[in-house]
Amino acid sequence: AAFRASVALGVHYSPADVTPRRRPRPAPQPLTGPFHNAVDTDPSVEAHRTWAQDVTGLRSGYVPAIAEPLATSAQVDEVVALARRAAAAWSKVSAPDRGRVLRAAAKHLEAARTDLVAAMVHEAGKTVAEADPEVSEAVDFAAYYAQAAEALDPTSEAWPGARFTPDGVTLVTPPWNFPVAIPIGGVLAGLAAGTAVIAKPAPPTPRCLEIAVEAVHAALDEVAQEIGLDSALARDVAQFVRVPDGDLGRRLVTHDGVSRVILTGAIETAEMFASWRPELPVLAETSGKNALIVTPSADLDLAVADVVRSAFGHAGQKCSAASLVILVGSVGDPRTATGERFRRQLTDAVASLAVGPATDLATVMGPLTEPAQGKLLRALTTLEPGETWLVRPRRLDSVARDAGLGRGRLWTPGVRDGVRPGSFFHLTECFGPVLGIMTARDLDEALALQNAVSFGLTGGIHSLDDVEVDRWLDRVEVGNAYVNRHITGAIVQRQSFGGWKASSVGPGAKAGGPNYIAQLGRWEDAPDVP
Ligand code: SER
Repeated sequence: AAFRASVALGVHYSPADVTPRRRPRPAPQPLTGPFHNAVDTDPSVEAHRTWAQDVTGLRSGYVPAIAEPLATSAQVDEVVALARRAAAAWSKVSAPDRGRVLRAAAKHLEAARTDLVAAMVHEAGKTVAEADPEVSEAVDFAAYYAQAAEALDPTSEAWPGARFTPDGVTLVTPPWNFPVAIPIGGVLAGLAAGTAVIAKPAPPTPRCLEIAVEAVHAALDEVAQEIGLDSALARDVAQFVRVPDGDLGRRLVTHDGVSRVILTGAIETAEMFASWRPELPVLAETSGKNALIVTPSADLDLAVADVVRSAFGHAGQKCSAASLVILVGSVGDPRTATGERFRRQLTDAVASLAVGPATDLATVMGPLTEPAQGKLLRALTTLEPGETWLVRPRRLDSVARDAGLGRGRLWTPGVRDGVRPGSFFHLTECFGPVLGIMTARDLDEALALQNAVSFGLTGGIHSLDDVEVDRWLDRVEVGNAYVNRHITGAIVQRQSFGGWKASSVGPGAKAGGPNYIAQLGRWEDAPDVP
């Protein structure tokens, strides 16, 4: 009954979370909410609007990243040596005391909200409406991993029969699309597990991570003395280092002082790390090619809104984004009333998205963080056999130029109709503002199309038919499966986030869930507490 209720609420169900594990599972943790990120930000609310104007008004005072990129391999070695020394001290801090630091970090991240939003607007081109919940997610990670750290304490009964020992240095190499929440989530998880952390920002978004790490430093400074951590070492526990990709990046990843890497990025990057240093533990959340199924029993108004939000939020630059919508039966057939209505509503909704620079508060869909190229450029410009444009994307170079954005960064959203099974757009992650429509005779055929991709990150179904929903949940091969909800924006603890198949590398416990920090240390048997 509880499971049915969670489905009805749109809460995810993850096969990855129910896979039996060798280690015991922790006792469930009470919800610590209300979590900020659970509350949607509504930019139409006047107070929020005023605040958002303050944020974008920071343009003149906007500070690029202060730390210089590392320039020599000796500097890389020095960073790792400092981290090793700090790890030795930090691993002796008790789990509840680490939790105190994380709770302080939640407070300092919240205090940095305006600066973090401004950095995301300017470096990543995120709209305020997308950037603000990302700060909330970062705050939620801090509060949640604080609780998870406390559960690792030997006196806690959360992990019966097992004892956790912190282990070394965790390197965090994040992407630019969630330049605050994803990297700081990795930093906070590493700290919660008692490891020192080296955080390397994605090259386009250094300031976003730098501000977040400064908040963690403020927390370490605040609590160090009370928890007996040498204040001279405190900041070395979480290091922000800009490392150019290439030889120096490789030196860092292959350094034997680095115990593990938390990577969020392309599957090719995970493969490259493995080829450089096969024995290195890599915990990676990689690419996705995600689909949302709409059946004839769906609430079509809600389905259209959720498809648009899932496909075009942050201009589709989310590993969780919907890249395909698979229309079942009459919804897919434009000759039926239902099929005609779905395409008409989708066209209207997509065409009405206001596209512009993120500094303009009227913008709903902002720019690409990097100019479209490669697979994305192909997806935005070239149709495959059998496809037509339901909505044709356009490049807005003169608007981009006036806004100080480079050529190729501003595109209107596109919808490709008639995507064929096995085609380029069916199977390839393109990471941008373009959605493909596929059709299926029935739910089983839709599931076959959804599961045909090598990735398995997110997926959704819109259906008001319980039998269909059950069948889909039993068979869909994704880490995060959503029912009657958009498929982006996982909420910490409510929907821990991670993939299946080629979307995940490593032990596979999901970020923002109870097993996550448990992957970042060593376990040994301990007698059960009687
Ligand atoms: N956690 C994000 C989401 O759920 C993706 O990284 O959309």
